[in-house]
Amino acid sequence: MDVRDNELYLGGCRAEALAERFGTPLYVYEEEVIRAQCRLFRESFAEVEPDIHYALKANPNPSLLRILKDEGMGIDAVSPLEVRLCLELGFLPGQIIFSGNNTTQEEQRFCLERGVPINVGSLSELERYGRLSPGGSVAVRINPDVGDGHHEHVITGGPRSKFGIYHTDLEKLQAVLAAHRLRLIGVHSHIGTGILKTQQMLLAMEIVLNTAAQLPGLEFIDFGGGFGVPYKPDQAPLPLSELGREMSRRFTAFCEAYGRPLKMKLEPGRFLVAQSGTLLARVTNIQSTPAHTFVGTDTGFNHLARPVIYAAYHEVVNASTVEGPQADVVVAGNICESGDVFTYGESGMEDRAVTRPEEGHLLALRDVGAYGLNLGSQYNMRPRPAEVLVRDGEARTIRRRETYDDLVRDYAELERPGSDAE
Ligand SMILES: Cc1ncc(COP(=O)(O)O)c(C=O)c1O
Repeated sequence: MDVRDNELYLGGCRAEALAERFGTPLYVYEEEVIRAQCRLFRESFAEVEPDIHYALKANPNPSLLRILKDEGMGIDAVSPLEVRLCLELGFLPGQIIFSGNNTTQEEQRFCLERGVPINVGSLSELERYGRLSPGGSVAVRINPDVGDGHHEHVITGGPRSKFGIYHTDLEKLQAVLAAHRLRLIGVHSHIGTGILKTQQMLLAMEIVLNTAAQLPGLEFIDFGGGFGVPYKPDQAPLPLSELGREMSRRFTAFCEAYGRPLKMKLEPGRFLVAQSGTLLARVTNIQSTPAHTFVGTDTGFNHLARPVIYAAYHEVVNASTVEGPQADVVVAGNICESGDVFTYGESGMEDRAVTRPEEGHLLALRDVGAYGLNLGSQYNMRPRPAEVLVRDGEARTIRRRETYDDLVRDYAELERPGSDAE
């Protein structure tokens, strides 16, 4: 953390200066953090030189996508409009992989017509794909019976997950492939997100490799994403270089036994962008009950939903006075729901020690670059904040703050020409 004269700096910019210039609440992304994470990720798997497809759902801001493209990343997309955005930004169809869920034939056709390869996620989707492209090539998503993740809602492997063809259903898979003369060129799996331990990932890999061994003619194996980052100060990071070395070793041994060199694909999202993002919010109110002191801010779960939906932890830093006497407080938003607080623990809302906040102070919610603003909404008719990119002391807007017009534009009752610039 860059602290000077007890104030927080982001990308060489004083947080308070950013707040004054661009207003609050404000999403700030540090370009150098994204670039460093990309390089760390690539180096960890250097031995097998995988195709790395950034999972765009983690953060779709085109300015970040340009940085990721510049770092050599491809894209993992899950909807036609994600595909469209990447193509518009100059990603080649072959750099994109589509791993949509419960997709329609229209969505499959959209990808096929643009030459974007698809990881098909169920036998009935495969049937549809076969009817659409008989004799074509395809990859399938396997459920390896193993899952992991930071919260139950994000575990995408195992019997309670809707994703992928169960690894025990290979006969059924072969039958559908044969019925439509489909050529199986890839196997995919993704077991969850926010994973900080290697055990389940390696176990899933083993099952995927055992499955792949029974499927001749493959060209690639895609092990998905899920690579976590520590959010809490005492959380141990994922030992990525160790994991990368081990996955590379197992993959190389597999390819030798399989009899042909395959490509490894990976789909990190969170790992590349989470730590680049900070949400700056102004303290607007301080209020106590017999149980808690609530520090109210000018943002809410409509701008950062992870604490409310996953009880996710985000560090709160008082950017106006980083060090000093602390107070145990609940940091809350301005949405009219009691659950609209940012300080959750395993047993629900909890106090957090923050350098004593006062009205007018600037708070920084850290590590919000992945699954942050894109999970947001305009609930309570609160517009979404601006996003800025910072680097070497320079800052620029990469998404403007929404206005009243943005919120009401689509209501038939209010149709009107022109717009207010606010
Ligand atoms: C198919 C697929 N790949 C990759 C990812 C990215 O996961 P993460 O951000 O944990 O790396 C996801 C996220 O849910 C996903 O569904």
